[in-house]
Amino acid sequence: MSLNENFRYFDKDSLSLKPVEIENSIRLVPGGSSIRTGSYVAKGVICMPPMYINIGAYVDEGTMIDSHALVGTCAQVGKGVHLSAASQLGGVLEPPGARPVIIEDNVMIGGNCGVYEGVIIRKNAVLGSGVILNSSTKVFDLVNEKLLKSDSGIPLEIPEGAVVIPGSRSVDSEFGKKFGLSISAPMIVKYRDAKTDARTALEQALR
Ligand SMILES: CC(C)(COP(=O)(O)OP(=O)(O)OC[C@H]1O[C@@H](n2cnc3c(N)ncnc32)[C@H](O)[C@@H]1OP(=O)(O)O)[C@@H](O)C(=O)NCCC(=O)NCCS
Repeated sequence: MSLNENFRYFDKDSLSLKPVEIENSIRLVPGGSSIRTGSYVAKGVICMPPMYINIGAYVDEGTMIDSHALVGTCAQVGKGVHLSAASQLGGVLEPPGARPVIIEDNVMIGGNCGVYEGVIIRKNAVLGSGVILNSSTKVFDLVNEKLLKSDSGIPLEIPEGAVVIPGSRSVDSEFGKKFGLSISAPMIVKYRDAKTDARTALEQALR
């Protein structure tokens, strides 16, 4: 199954690959990592396999796209962004959406995060591991005691320098109370300071 001397595979011969033919009508897109035509990827972007940059996406200088990360259709990613392992930026095609996800300069998206449905992350913000945001997500700013959410035609916006972590809020219905249920509610616990900078600093040696 090796492609050539540089791309060699070793496996048990009882675990061969399923042969896929055009008649199977399965669309198998090539490559552990792929950058689709119709995307813009600036100089100095680092792509760690497997990752995928879909059509219409824009990825600016010095950004790192780590393993298992997705830059969905038309997502706009600024300079010096860290898109950590398994983080996902949703696209606009399926289901169709009018707004792309926007990640501004120097944002840190932690591992296993998901940003969907036109959410905007303003510059220098940090999403702690596992934060999921879409246009239905309510985000609680504990510093300014404000509720952030999307409104008709206005996307959810995470403010500049905000540090967001996963959280939950209780379900107030009788049923919810009876079973002690809660709903995901990401929270801004602080705004970026020297400690955050130290924990999210990009490794220049890798660039
Ligand atoms: C957000 C993050 C950068 C921490 O930033 P920080 O500025 O150092 O934040 P602090 O440690 O001062 O935390 C502030 C408060 O939030 C809490 N907190 C911070 N991150 C949290 C998280 N991810 N989950 C739960 N609580 C968290 C802390 O316990 C602390 O609570 P306290 O004030 O009650 O003590 C870090 O938690 C994080 O998620 N990093 C991303 C790691 C990652 O995904 N790497 C990718 C590798 S591929």
